[in-house]
Amino acid sequence: MINVLSKLPNLSNSIFSTMTALANECGAVNLSQGFPDFDCSPRLIDLAQFHMKKGHNQYAPMPGVLQLREKIVEMVEKQQGAVYHPEREITITAGATQAIFTAIASIIRPDDEVICFDPCYDSYAPAIDLCGGMVKTVSLLPNDFSINWDDVKKLFSHKTKLIIVNTPHNPTSATLTDFDMNQLIKLTQGTDIFIISDEVYDKVVFDGKKHISVASYPDLRERSFVISSFGKMFHITGWKVGYCLAPEKLTAEFRKVHQYLVFSVNTPVQYALADFLADEDEYLSLNKFFQEKRDFFSNALRTTPFEVLPASGSYFLLANYEKISEKSDLDFTKELTIRHGVATIPLSVFYKTRLDKHYIRFCFAKKHETLEKAVEKLVHIKQV
Ligand SMILES: Cc1ncc(COP(=O)(O)O)c(C=O)c1O
Repeated sequence: MINVLSKLPNLSNSIFSTMTALANECGAVNLSQGFPDFDCSPRLIDLAQFHMKKGHNQYAPMPGVLQLREKIVEMVEKQQGAVYHPEREITITAGATQAIFTAIASIIRPDDEVICFDPCYDSYAPAIDLCGGMVKTVSLLPNDFSINWDDVKKLFSHKTKLIIVNTPHNPTSATLTDFDMNQLIKLTQGTDIFIISDEVYDKVVFDGKKHISVASYPDLRERSFVISSFGKMFHITGWKVGYCLAPEKLTAEFRKVHQYLVFSVNTPVQYALADFLADEDEYLSLNKFFQEKRDFFSNALRTTPFEVLPASGSYFLLANYEKISEKSDLDFTKELTIRHGVATIPLSVFYKTRLDKHYIRFCFAKKHETLEKAVEKLVHIKQV
């Protein structure tokens, strides 16, 4: 028998696959995994078909179709006031996950330290591990999941190579502010520390607030990989297209890995997205679209014993269930799926420490009728 020495011995099947499988088995409403259950714009599908029929079916250029890069650069300049060069400072990727992996692989060497926040999106740590890096975690503050920058400073060492931030944040829905950006500038000024800023929910910020990107701060821009995802933007998570903005020197290193990891990303979809981005209403309307869903669902949840936390961005809501059960969050999400027919994600899986404070995460990027169905089930849950 061959002996397999796992490079990631502590990883098992992700909770997202587990909860989705359980939801399907029980016929539960699935508010667990972060993807919409409604379709994308039919115009986007027509455009993809159009470009396939037009013959855009061979390898795209390694950094991406130039028309798409130009359109993204225009959008970023309009929204963030940040100017990137379409040929030298942007790369189209197979979703944000690949962009994050590629950015990490292009700069992290064995024993380099990477500062991540706890809780955080689950793809960062395995990518760091595979490169031999060491994850150092700073806990987000308990009440509002903001960052105590003094805690970040305490973790700095001569080995610190990278900080990974995520705004709007999955799973907590918190967003970084101008204050946070200035703290990040103070901490990194005069160092060779890189930043990965995961901004996949940059178009989903609520209550009239503006998305604050590291790209808008020249002192951060020069050391940052800014990553986003069309999957999240245009309800096409299955198309797996994203991008990475970074200054020329960083992009050069990024592309050295990118070209041997994927080489290039599917061509007709890139042409379709370039055409689609020409109409800025397609992305300017997203805040309102998702805010209506957040408001409907959080207001309904407030009539139940769940305690809903404020959500300033992304398409997730956190709720505390202590008035309903004393079970662990993992057991509670299983029970909620099996007995009450609503699948969610336990917050503890996003913590390196597996901290369980009795919170669960709901994804509200769902059709109105799906959210209504979930609410119908949740309102019957009783306080203990
Ligand atoms: C914070 C965050 N980053 C990255 C991703 C991955 O995006 P993509 O599907 O484009 O790889 C997700 C997906 O859920 C996410 O929530």
